[in-house]
Amino acid sequence: MTARTTSGPAIRVQGLEKSYKQKKQQLRVLRGVDFEVARGSIFGLLGSNGAGKTTAVNILSTLLKPDAGTATVNGFDVAAQGAQVRESISLTGQFAAVDEILTGRENLVLVARLRRLKGAGQIADDLLARFQLTDAAGRRVATYSGGMRRRLDIAMSLIGNPLVIFLDEPTTGLDPESRLEVHHSVKQLARRGTTVLLTTQYLDEAEQLADRIAILHQGRIIANGTLAELKQLLPPAQVEYVEKQPSLEEVFLAITGHDGNGSNNGSDSGLATTPPTTKEPR
Ligand SMILES: Nc1ncnc2c1ncn2[C@@H]1O[C@H](COP(=O)(O)OP(=O)(O)OP(=O)(O)O)[C@@H](O)[C@H]1O
Ligand SMILES: [Mg+2]
Repeated sequence: MTARTTSGPAIRVQGLEKSYKQKKQQLRVLRGVDFEVARGSIFGLLGSNGAGKTTAVNILSTLLKPDAGTATVNGFDVAAQGAQVRESISLTGQFAAVDEILTGRENLVLVARLRRLKGAGQIADDLLARFQLTDAAGRRVATYSGGMRRRLDIAMSLIGNPLVIFLDEPTTGLDPESRLEVHHSVKQLARRGTTVLLTTQYLDEAEQLADRIAILHQGRIIANGTLAELKQLLPPAQVEYVEKQPSLEEVFLAITGHDGNGSNNGSDSGLATTPPTTKEPR
């Protein structure tokens, strides 16, 4: 593991620019992006399809060179100190990068061996337990559900205890239960002191997970703050009392017996498990 550098943010991005050539035209995706991510925090980068989230993550993980601007990760410059940056990070890309032919455990052991870590089997077993995959450990990944693959993918990215983890749309395409399981895993990561930069199109995901949220729009960060700070950008709420109806997600989770903590509570009592909710003034 690369040593933690001196103080300062885990990620610092200044004036980042990136264009792609598309049909002889320049598509300016990042037009001067600035943000910082504090160590041990969860930072949510929000943006619609094509906003440039993956482009930004790829630059920070040294897969792509920026046209202009600077970025440091764990104090190392992504352009000049790529090797040190790569030793400080792990990337879970937008599309799961697990090997379908291998079992879950074999995938983990393979990565631990590639990283030349001692006790690869033990590392794999610990991660399988942490991500509730012990029962499925000996099955080929081809038989896993989307949520299980995602959890295995995130587990693989933790091997070697990287200081900074990039999760590019970790829950896109997952059902509500699997999304909650991934949310639970991400919260656990941050509790252990890992810095997490996650991109998402789901506003509620950023709302639930991120300490700070930045919105990438038309090539720039147009808002950056805590949830409370972002909410203050809107005019004062008009107070209105409405009886709260459960959302479809709440109904789904209640009747499938899910407790919202990344585990199934085994209940089959249906709607009666819907927690009482109160409507916040909007
Ligand atoms: N290698 C490339 N060559 C040309 N254009 C590209 C390339 N990679 C991305 N783009 C374009 O750049 C824009 C930003 O893409 P990017 O993948 O960074 O967006 P994103 O925010 O991750 O979107 P999504 O939410 O769909 O994953 C898009 O218009 C995309 O078509
Ligand atoms: Mg993307």
